[in-house]
Amino acid sequence: KTMGEHTWRGVPISEIYGSQSPWGAPEFPLIVPSFSHAVLYHIPSTGRPHQDSPPKPKLGNDLWNHDFVRMPCSNQSLYPIENSNGETKLIKRWEIIEQALSKPIRNSQELADAILSYNTKFKSLWKFKALHKLFNEYLEEEESEYFFNVTLPEIVKLTLALPKLIQSPIPLLKQHKNKSVSLSQQQIASLLANAFFCTFPRRNTTKKSSEYASYPYINLNRLFNSSGSDSILEKLKCICHYFRRVTTKVPVGVVSFSRRTVAADALPLWAASERPVCSLPVHVDSETTIEDAQGLIQVDFANKFLGGGVLNFGCVQEEIRFVICPELMISMLFTEMLKPNEALMMIGCERYSTYSGYGHSFHWSGDYVDSTPIDSSGRRRCAVLAIDALPYANARHEHNKDMITRELNKAWVGVSYGTDPRSEGLNYPGVATGNWGCGAFGGTPHLKSLIQIMACAQAKRPMAYYTFNDTELRDDIVNVYNLLARYNVTVGKLYKYLGQYSTDARPNQLHAYLQQKLLDENKPKSPVVEVMDASEVPMEIS
Ligand code: AR6
Repeated sequence: KTMGEHTWRGVPISEIYGSQSPWGAPEFPLIVPSFSHAVLYHIPSTGRPHQDSPPKPKLGNDLWNHDFVRMPCSNQSLYPIENSNGETKLIKRWEIIEQALSKPIRNSQELADAILSYNTKFKSLWKFKALHKLFNEYLEEEESEYFFNVTLPEIVKLTLALPKLIQSPIPLLKQHKNKSVSLSQQQIASLLANAFFCTFPRRNTTKKSSEYASYPYINLNRLFNSSGSDSILEKLKCICHYFRRVTTKVPVGVVSFSRRTVAADALPLWAASERPVCSLPVHVDSETTIEDAQGLIQVDFANKFLGGGVLNFGCVQEEIRFVICPELMISMLFTEMLKPNEALMMIGCERYSTYSGYGHSFHWSGDYVDSTPIDSSGRRRCAVLAIDALPYANARHEHNKDMITRELNKAWVGVSYGTDPRSEGLNYPGVATGNWGCGAFGGTPHLKSLIQIMACAQAKRPMAYYTFNDTELRDDIVNVYNLLARYNVTVGKLYKYLGQYSTDARPNQLHAYLQQKLLDENKPKSPVVEVMDASEVPMEIS
């Protein structure tokens, strides 16, 4: 990049904001408790939460059943303990947890022992390799000491404050249900502290028959017990940093999680869509990253099990996002695996860490002070939209019409969240996305960018696309967009073309294929004298 040169193509970002400022767009609807929206804190009568202290918990009764998170502090969470006579007795598991955590924990061995005292089944399985490596080899001695002397006792307090901080039950966001949960950042911190200490019951087995088999992991045991590669240790550093921050100063905001599910008969009829692809403005940038796209709906390149490998070995877009904004991880506690017609919108998370690198080279690089403004419900105006692409082993599969339809539906279910189908103009905020499905999941950016452009056009949301340093891709996307604009191609028509394109005949030639197709279909009826070069785009259409 030379000095003064733009890193972006297409329209300026202000057109994606719909104003000069990233915050000009309307706010998402207020948090209002209802049958389909569980609010775990008390909303003051003014409707606006206090700006200087965390909201108070909403009162209620624990529910121990299939529709709610089984809480570690529930009176009904029982654990078998063997006494000195060899008899087993069921006792309240929370009492064992309280006992284990009220003893001093001075090093990683004592931490591991505490966790095992209420996870006795795993005594011979959990070796805590990464945990020991982090505190005994990887961190500076002073850093480890600080953690055990200062931060950990505070994490213990947060953990044990759970029954006080969360008094009404947390519904599970189950498949096929439009349902939301809102929690205070303080409540999330307490839940995450419990995940740190691996206290959530019935969440440690991966057996197909287990109650939570269709839910992501939540306890941190997999991270602690992993090999402890550098990127895993760096993720743990992010998480420890988060706890240092929230135990130093309690955050006062709230975060909401909304599952969106759209019935099959309410999905767009893609083939019939008359919307011009280019009725939405597009901004394409090779430098910015999605998490830095202020004020836009930021796409999380998700796994259908939210968080993907964040509590394991994964370290790509979703995992990185979840460790720099750990409040997102609490979605893993209650969000059942996403179905093809579902997405999860998370509004209000705070960012705590900066990072460098990616994948194996990922590094925590320090504190991040988040200056995102707060909305009328007390949420940061940060919207993270989880949509999961499908993994593809080969491009032919990805270009299959059914697969294209699946990805279109998935993207549309996500980006149409909060839009009004009756509205005439564009919907703001716009969407910030990029190579969705094109890294770990092996997809092709030329196809996936078009799919996302179509989904955004259909939802009437402007789109900013971040190519992650790829300037060639940036230019390709703008060129194909201009081509489609020149021929005024509709979403329905592009859908048809995509379905006709065969990777067998033309591997990696989607854009050239579209160009040829449009040339052929728009050929003048009279015989053409001039032979046109296929790479040349006609300036006028007859
Ligand atoms: N901003 C913009 N673009 C990015 C960013 C960023 N912060 N990070 C990565 N990219 P990937 P997938 C680009 O592999 O293929 C996880 O385990 C970059 O070009 O994270 O959908 C999930 O849990 C990268 O190659 O997404 C799923 O299991 C591309 O986006 C699985 O990965 C794709 O990022 C999803 O894989």
